[in-house]
Amino acid sequence: KLEAVIFDLDGVITDTAEYHYLAWKALADELGIPFTREFNENLKGVSRMDSLNLLLGQAASPLSLTEEEMVQLADRKNGLYQELIEQITPADLLPGIPEFVADIKQNGIKVGLASASKNALFVVKRLEAEHYFDVIVDVTTLKRNKPDPEIFLTAAALLGVEPGNCIGVEDAASGVDAIKGADMFAVAVGLESLFPHADVVLPDTSRLNLNDLIKQFAG
Ligand code: BG6
Ligand code: MG
Repeated sequence: KLEAVIFDLDGVITDTAEYHYLAWKALADELGIPFTREFNENLKGVSRMDSLNLLLGQAASPLSLTEEEMVQLADRKNGLYQELIEQITPADLLPGIPEFVADIKQNGIKVGLASASKNALFVVKRLEAEHYFDVIVDVTTLKRNKPDPEIFLTAAALLGVEPGNCIGVEDAASGVDAIKGADMFAVAVGLESLFPHADVVLPDTSRLNLNDLIKQFAG
């Protein structure tokens, strides 16, 4: 029986996935490193430092950077990102999200947030969506990043529910792998071809429908 729906934030609740992309793209341009939207798919759901390492791996000739220089580059990207998220308002909730969350709550099902971002709480506050979530996992307390299931398992434990009774909602391949690793039902939002491991793939958030998902979850 479905007890909780656990959401990713960036690219699911709001389109901050685009802001992460724009900030990485600006940094890549400064460094003269090629960076495409296609390659950016690999960074979705991935932590800041892991993302930086993936980006640097695209350089034509390997850059040898000190730990300190790496931190400076990560800070630079985060500064660009934080400028972009300053502008967020409740109008930036993705289509269908307010209705979907309201429906979940009306059915007595719990709601969790499992975001890999250290900026998650700021974004949720800008969206005025704190009341959506019965739990927001603090990523700084975790040992392992997505695709490790730790973040989804932590959300389930804090909600006091069985992982097998949870649906996870993601827009990233690494996130879908984390959901499946946690033994949860995975709903992906985006292009079908990107999510071979998901249980259900929907083209966008406006298609999230609790009744449909409960049927697929039970089926
Ligand atoms: C994830 C995003 O939610 O958070 C990634 O999908 C991002 O793109 C990661 O790198 C870490 O975010 P932050 O805000 O801590 O740099
Ligand atoms: Mg995401």
